[in-house]
Amino acid sequence: MNTMIVHADRGSQKISRHIYGHFAEHLGRCVYEGLWVGPDSPIPNTRGIRNDVVAALTRLRMPNLRWPGGCFADTYHWRDGVGPYESRPPMLNIHWGGTLENNHFGTHEFLDLCGMLGCEPYICGNVGSGTVQEMAQWLEYITAPAGSPMAELRRRNGREEPWPLTYWAVGNENYGCGGYMRPQQYADEYRRYQTYCGNYSGRKLYKVAGGQLAPWNEIVMREAGPQMDGLSVHYYTTPVSAQKRGTATAFDTDMWFATLKAAAAIEDFMVETEGIMDHYDPARRIGMVMDEWGTWYDVEPGTNPSFLYQQNTMRDAVVAGLSLNIFNAHAARLHMANIAQLANVLQSLVLTDGPRMLRTPTYHVFQMYAPHQDATLLPVECDIGAIDAAGTALPRVSVTASRDAAGLIHLSLVNLHPDEPAAIRCEIRGAEAARVSGRILTGTAMNAHNTFAAPDAARPVEFTGVTVARGALSATLPAHSVAMLEIAGG
Ligand code: AHR
Repeated sequence: MNTMIVHADRGSQKISRHIYGHFAEHLGRCVYEGLWVGPDSPIPNTRGIRNDVVAALTRLRMPNLRWPGGCFADTYHWRDGVGPYESRPPMLNIHWGGTLENNHFGTHEFLDLCGMLGCEPYICGNVGSGTVQEMAQWLEYITAPAGSPMAELRRRNGREEPWPLTYWAVGNENYGCGGYMRPQQYADEYRRYQTYCGNYSGRKLYKVAGGQLAPWNEIVMREAGPQMDGLSVHYYTTPVSAQKRGTATAFDTDMWFATLKAAAAIEDFMVETEGIMDHYDPARRIGMVMDEWGTWYDVEPGTNPSFLYQQNTMRDAVVAGLSLNIFNAHAARLHMANIAQLANVLQSLVLTDGPRMLRTPTYHVFQMYAPHQDATLLPVECDIGAIDAAGTALPRVSVTASRDAAGLIHLSLVNLHPDEPAAIRCEIRGAEAARVSGRILTGTAMNAHNTFAAPDAARPVEFTGVTVARGALSATLPAHSVAMLEIAGG
């Protein structure tokens, strides 16, 4: 029996809704096809943006969307993506297959999409191949009220009012695809670029500097900490190694455990990064921004290797639930996280095929976990068994609890075992637990997934197997499952 005690009358740490953020890069079929089909497409759209995808995504309460990359960001020149379509020059997407893009999805289209989704934009500016002036003018274009030269250009392009904008990154992975810089060099460039990152709308800009592993983060925090609000770090779950990822759908239990061990190790990486941040920022002003995370497998057979298109099974749902539980637990330092990516790339929320669209198991986890957004993290005392997977212990069950503004308690539970159910007993202390309802996501097999022929093979259903007696809940979580329970007083 796995037991836990939720202290419902304690807790002071808010879980930022931005931990439940997203990422869309000009990569493969994410932006073009997945989100944007153009106004003349036979696929139903609003000003070029797919209606089916927007309808699905609006149910997630998306807090933010990061764009345009990724590696693409340090090749992107925003001026080529504004103005009439016919005058936008095409560009080569050098990092992702050398495809030719027509630049029809640019600043106006992205901010239109954010408006449709009700989420905040998070834009990554170009350091690797851009200039300080280019970045400064992009910010002026987006945020300056009427009267400035860039606001006038924006008006001529059809938008009078500035857009609200808070989140801005100064480059992406500048230790690699963003210019192969040395950490000291990047820290110096960051300090220079951010000086000219103005927000003309009166909002304070939240400026994100690029982090990496410990040695790089030490230098960037030491040299540029006072000038940043967030430190971006990336963590991908690759089973075994980057050379041996395996496929998204055909895997055995060894691969299952290898994947979950890699996913659970994100916590070690976060703890190490927090240690460095605590050293240079003991007041915890600067946020960790995990603005790329998720599973990374071999591409689906027969698809372009540069497009990073992969299916998504219950394994991904379990990785998502486990990762989000870890993120909640680190809410004191983690200000934002963005799963990679929204559509048709890596651990996607939706997949599309021409006019067809499906929601992945990962999508369902994000929808189920939405009540944690901006809720108060509650302490949970756990006595949970371990799975001994090839010498590394994984918890049988991963859990977090939160209390929302209405006083409802939400408990997210993940059974990490591919084949065995997990019995749990959870005592709720400090609040009445009179009623419990919930949903559970599982599948007929650990690799259950949704296809265009069977788009609802893995979807959440009402979790009827929970009982409440004397302030404690009891339930048995099926193998490879993710559950979300809502607990209310009398
Ligand atoms: O998400 C795919 C790529 O992974 C991004 O472009 C890059 O930032 C990272 O290496």
